[in-house]
Amino acid sequence: MEFWHDRILILDFGSQYTQLIARRIREARVYSQILPCTASLATIEAYRPKGIILSGGPSSVYDRKAPKVPKEVFDLGVPILGICYGMQLVTHLLGGEVAKANHREYGRAELLIDDASDVLKKLPARSRTVWMSHGDRIERMPKGFRAIAHTDNSPVAAMKSVGGGRHIYCLQFHPEVAHTAGGVQILKNFVYDVCGCQPTWTMSSYVDTAVKIIQERVGTGKVICALSGGVDSSVAAALTSRAVGSQLTCIFVDNGLLRKEERAKVQKSFAQMDLDLHVLDRSTEFLSALKGVTDPERKRKIIGRLFIKNFEREATRLGKVDYLVQGTLYPDVIESVSFKGPSATIKTHHNVGGLPTRMRLRLVEPLRELFKDEVRVLGKELGLPDDIVGRHPFPGPGLAIRVLGAVTPQRCMMLREADAIVEQEIRQSGLYAETWQAFAVLLPIRTVGVMGDQRTYEYVAAIRAVTSLDGMTADWAKLPHEVLGKISNRIINEVRGVNRVVYDISSKPPSTIEWE
Ligand code: XMP
Repeated sequence: MEFWHDRILILDFGSQYTQLIARRIREARVYSQILPCTASLATIEAYRPKGIILSGGPSSVYDRKAPKVPKEVFDLGVPILGICYGMQLVTHLLGGEVAKANHREYGRAELLIDDASDVLKKLPARSRTVWMSHGDRIERMPKGFRAIAHTDNSPVAAMKSVGGGRHIYCLQFHPEVAHTAGGVQILKNFVYDVCGCQPTWTMSSYVDTAVKIIQERVGTGKVICALSGGVDSSVAAALTSRAVGSQLTCIFVDNGLLRKEERAKVQKSFAQMDLDLHVLDRSTEFLSALKGVTDPERKRKIIGRLFIKNFEREATRLGKVDYLVQGTLYPDVIESVSFKGPSATIKTHHNVGGLPTRMRLRLVEPLRELFKDEVRVLGKELGLPDDIVGRHPFPGPGLAIRVLGAVTPQRCMMLREADAIVEQEIRQSGLYAETWQAFAVLLPIRTVGVMGDQRTYEYVAAIRAVTSLDGMTADWAKLPHEVLGKISNRIINEVRGVNRVVYDISSKPPSTIEWE
């Protein structure tokens, strides 16, 4: 099927901000896609982009292994925007000169505009702060280029090509970061005015496109989906259901490690959707397999294996199944194509790994193009309740990696109650949406307390609340003391077996979000 949205291609040179560029452009309702900078000219052309952005990156153009693009990219007749390293690369490849700056310009700088047209038009009159993040600067522009802005330390903070059939714009600073005043306007100027893109990329338009794509892929085949109750699998299931209706069967495994009333919530959310949902209660099986296990990675392995076993068994009962729906998101896809290569495994995060090949299933990944915030909007578009769509992420191994040490039904129960109080109070205080995750952890140690006149010797609950954009890095949430006080009071009063509550004030890195 023809993908009819105008498209901006972003070639990634390894900047920490590359994803942000893609998100900003999509927020402007133009579809954008990231490719590693090693993509061949043929691949780039095959995407038929209306504009190409060369991202920033940590390299210097003079590094022996400095990443480059094929020079022919500049003559495709497609407008180009080079950002930071992207700008230096344009300069280097087209015969200009890049040099180490005397004063490295990192952080904020004041932009002085020399030509307020094209990409630099309609910028706010007052604040001209921009965000710099590179040691090199442009010493001499390539022939056919003109400076359009400068700063105290960079005579060429922005430049454009003049004539020669080329439409190349370059910025030494980062328009995609929030610290650059008018940065969004600059990107909009580029995609709307320079590239002529139409703002058609909305989630309602995506529903129709995705439904058609799924229908074409699946045909009359049978599809299964492992529903976890999380946002991604719920939205993927809802979208697939819209596309192929009763050809889809969803399987929800209650492993006894879920949050309070999770199973009922999932059943209720999907009840209105006329979806074939198989709910399996396997809590006894999971909890007995975990008996006495304290090692986090072993817990993950046991849970993953049992999950697959149950899922497979249920799927086999359905007869021949052809496709498996997965809620893979765009950041996962970018991660696997990024030219930086995969990062080290800290924890094995799995969902239904191994299943597709074993059961000879083909994948349906209807969210592969989307960022998390887009998935949330899509979920609403499909009629999923806010409760599901706005949900904090919850790890596949569930409470097993939050009950530190040995997992028992009693300890799960304690944690479930404490966790429900955290969620209620965070929601009550209006902080739920701005928090990435907020939950309780049950520690395997007991401390002394006093209740009434009685000495107590009970467990400690830790509260973990973090802010984050993508879970890769996170900061501990500065929750108001009153909220923390209320959570602590309620847990100690309402959860039997807990007599102390502590607040985790570590960021990631060096800590991780989950304790195990
Ligand atoms: P960490 O603890 O690595 O977590 O900072 C980052 C994000 O991943 C979630 N997480 C998991 N998700 N299976 C999952 O599906 C796992 O084993 C797992 N471990 C951590 C965590 O909740 C956070 O959102």
